[in-house]
Amino acid sequence: MAASGNMRADGRRAIFITGAASGIGLATARRFAAGGWFVGLADIDSKGLAAALEAVGADNGATFRLDVRDRGGWKRDLAAFAKLTDGRLDVLVNNAGVAKGGYLEQQAAADVDLQVDVNLKGVINGCQAAFDLLAATPGALVVNVASVAGVIAPPRMGVYAATKFAVRGLSEALEGEFARVGVGVRCVLPWFIDTPLLDKARLSSNEDLRVSLREQKTTVYPVEMVSDAIWRAVHGKGLHHFVGGRARQVGWLSRLAPTFVRKQLQQQAEAF
Ligand code: NAI
Repeated sequence: MAASGNMRADGRRAIFITGAASGIGLATARRFAAGGWFVGLADIDSKGLAAALEAVGADNGATFRLDVRDRGGWKRDLAAFAKLTDGRLDVLVNNAGVAKGGYLEQQAAADVDLQVDVNLKGVINGCQAAFDLLAATPGALVVNVASVAGVIAPPRMGVYAATKFAVRGLSEALEGEFARVGVGVRCVLPWFIDTPLLDKARLSSNEDLRVSLREQKTTVYPVEMVSDAIWRAVHGKGLHHFVGGRARQVGWLSRLAPTFVRKQLQQQAEAF
């Protein structure tokens, strides 16, 4: 759906964020608006979008009811955004994502499709739809929000992890491809983060992921840790940006001792 809010960027740097009505997307929108950027907030949650625009300040952005699975919707909404920014798209953040857990043979087909379609194809759609605008904006960047589940794949998170491994792979390929038109790529890999996603994902039928993590005394980091990391990634260099000490540790261990890490994950998963 076309833009809601008629404010214009007026020369400010322009960032378009998917999944901006909640969690990491919302925190990132707030971070960049506070830093003087004009923010396109995209999500399927209309009510959440209205609240998000209020949170970032109505002068600082516009909302788009965009389902990242909808290729036509991407074209339409990026074109509407570009009208507000005089053709600029400095940063695209592909953040929208869903997490469903459980043993693979027990997962509903609809949940499998949803994760692949939103977490992976949604990111591909965004990168394709935004290419021309990004290429036309000097110093532009794509930020893909993967996960530490893009380097380790815990049992009962197989489909989710598969999408995040794929987003990491896509980001690596695009870093090489997009460089030819001057567009940079960042891939953000957070550890568990305190967002509503933890209340929606389930490893078993009895309890949500937040409860499972609490029982296992697993670290959960605040959402601002990711929005700050995205801010630094945009203003810094490098493709991969692990978020949180645990994520950095796991990233490093998974390269150094992959079999050990897989065994640990299996043991932990059995305890859930
Ligand atoms: P969240 O559930 O708080 O927010 C996700 C947002 O995406 C929601 O506003 C939702 O409406 C939106 N969304 C879902 N399907 C959509 C679609 N088809 N089109 C457009 N928007 C859609 O979740 P959170 O935690 O903020 O997740 C954001 C990203 O961060 C996801 O890609 C997730 O996989 C990733 N991530 C989250 C971690 C966590 O522990 N919370 C850890 C690592 C990565």
